[in-house]
Amino acid sequence: MASSADEVVLSLSESNSVTVHLHGATVTSWRHKGTERLFVSKQAVFNNKKAIRGGIPVVFPNFGPWDLGPQHGFARTSRWTVESKDDKPSNGAIKAVLILEDNEATRKMWNHKFKVTYTLTLKETEFVMDFAVENKGDQAFSFTALLHTYLRVEDVTKTTVSNLKGLNYVDKVKGGDMFTEDRELVSLAENYDRVYQNTPDEHVVMDGESGRTVIVKKTNFPDTVVWNPWADKAKGMSDFGDDEYPNMICVEAGHVSSAVTLTPGDTFHGNQVLNIVQ
Ligand code: BG6
Repeated sequence: MASSADEVVLSLSESNSVTVHLHGATVTSWRHKGTERLFVSKQAVFNNKKAIRGGIPVVFPNFGPWDLGPQHGFARTSRWTVESKDDKPSNGAIKAVLILEDNEATRKMWNHKFKVTYTLTLKETEFVMDFAVENKGDQAFSFTALLHTYLRVEDVTKTTVSNLKGLNYVDKVKGGDMFTEDRELVSLAENYDRVYQNTPDEHVVMDGESGRTVIVKKTNFPDTVVWNPWADKAKGMSDFGDDEYPNMICVEAGHVSSAVTLTPGDTFHGNQVLNIVQ
């Protein structure tokens, strides 16, 4: 369990709230009308060291295995600071701004000066994540980034993701080969780890079992990763229950197929909005 000193809670009402853990700026809960919409494993470790298994970990400055540091970069295992947090909602929205800047530990891995500003805004049916990276140094740098969203579903085999038809994807389960998606609605039936490229800015994720439907909207994140470890891989993960894989689907908005290059003083802006339809 996380202690309250580690968390920021954005509350619109008793039943509509978002909780963010400062370890990794990981969103660990998004409740709408009392229903939890994100998946966090019961085995997730909250020791301020390991990445939290579930919710929305921030992947930066590298997606995937990394020569310079841990898989998916250091943002999800760094302590973030709170720049500001609204005490109460205004005009139906409540907001917090979290910051990650370079420090000794990050510079040891990746010797660049940067500031990441992560603005989280909760509205009645929408949760908005604005992700900005500023180059504070005097040299250009390149990075990849992604918001690793674990959506909670009743049954992943009855869950569909729209708007992927006709797109190229890298299948990480099949050795990183490239394929083209031919399904109108993508559903999963096995270990699934695909990086869809040049995706449209909206995917409807519908859980046929519960009827719960979320639209994942994104700006400046050209890729969509769809991931579920399935039964065998789940068994090999110490922080993921063996029987939990049916209850999650990761639909991850990112800039990962190609890197973003920022010249000194420049800022990258990417954005993800989760919108509740049902
Ligand atoms: C996904 C990757 O985004 O994250 C997968 O595409 C990876 O390859 C998964 O297995 C989980 O990564 P991790 O480091 O949190 O176990």
